[in-house]
Amino acid sequence: MASEIHRASTTAPVNIAVIKYWGKRDPKLNLPTNSSLSVTLSQSDLRTHTTASCSPTYTHDELILNGSSQDVSGARTQACFRELRTLRKQLETTNPSLPALSSMPLKIVSENNFPTAAGLASSAAGFAALVRSIANLYELPASPTELSRIARQGSGSACRSLFGGYVGWEQGSQPDGSDSLAFEVAPASHWPTMRAVILVVSAAKKGVSSTTGMQTTVATSSLFPVRANDTVPRRMAEMQTAIQERDFESFAKLTMMDSNSFHATCLDTWPPIFYLNDVSRAAIKAVEAINHAAGKIVAAYTFDAGPNAVVYFEEENEGIVAGALRKLVGEKEGWKGEAKSDDAVVEKVVKEA
Ligand code: ADP
Ligand code: DP6
Ligand code: CO
Repeated sequence: MASEIHRASTTAPVNIAVIKYWGKRDPKLNLPTNSSLSVTLSQSDLRTHTTASCSPTYTHDELILNGSSQDVSGARTQACFRELRTLRKQLETTNPSLPALSSMPLKIVSENNFPTAAGLASSAAGFAALVRSIANLYELPASPTELSRIARQGSGSACRSLFGGYVGWEQGSQPDGSDSLAFEVAPASHWPTMRAVILVVSAAKKGVSSTTGMQTTVATSSLFPVRANDTVPRRMAEMQTAIQERDFESFAKLTMMDSNSFHATCLDTWPPIFYLNDVSRAAIKAVEAINHAAGKIVAAYTFDAGPNAVVYFEEENEGIVAGALRKLVGEKEGWKGEAKSDDAVVEKVVKEA
């Protein structure tokens, strides 16, 4: 039927890195200069919802994000479409009774229920949802690992949102990126007491996109090679051990030191990049005060390429961590979002400004 429309939907969560990806060795394929590791906030209120459809009646590929039409001619989106169409084409070739979806234009309709391009990993949830919705539409038998290879080409951090829990992204060494893939370090259920809270300091679009920022850092920062070649490889190994052993103090210290190291290379970029603001720095001080008062490390801050803080802590310390952060944003702001599961990482938004 000429009027047929094929459709599939999915949602994908954000992930917040505790060892950050910052730097590309190949900007076309989004191949990173270092491996990274994140926590997928699966129980989060922060999600992308995407519907992919295709029809012989459509005239061109289209992407509608939060109600506005986006440019799909960019190499990143094109790479995802091309890879997924190739996989569908293979299925159609081996099974000629399947409808020829691979030759129909695609329409992607996506909504982020949290600020876009504000340092809360919208590109991660966004491209993970885009790739999975099309894979569902095409009924591809692709594994999360294979989808991570494709989503990486949309946005590097997106490869990690195809898995839940604690997720690594191995930088790989192949020039074609075939070994630059996400992998599960541990499922969320491995550490059921882990919690995260997100402090939305600003929902404004960042001044320097992650893509531009990291390429300027690679080109100009003299601190950067030390971070990429020495600091991060060492901490990647230490972080995986901390997670395996559920050693919160080591997890937390590595998380905070890596966030500081990443933002130090941003300041060392020319011209300098400032993602943190005064409220971010107040959040760092608040976490330091919490840990000082507790006599041990019970909370860890981390900041992506934006001013918004994510604070990891264990359930038993929720009272002291939440109390101190509430004070920071003022009692009247209250909590937004609630914990939903016992066996997964959950988080709450403290403040939306
Ligand atoms: P963030 O810190 O939010 O990840 P980035 O600078 O990395 O910010 O990326 C933001 C860009 O990611 C947006 O301008 C848009 O091009 C893309 N993006 C965000 N959400 C989606 C989505 N749901 N679907 C497709 N692309 C998206
Ligand atoms: C600071 O994945 O958004 O959040 O690959 O250019 O789309 P592109 O960049 P992106 O960079 C994320 C940077 C980070 C750290 C991280 O998520 O690991
Ligand atoms: Co991003």
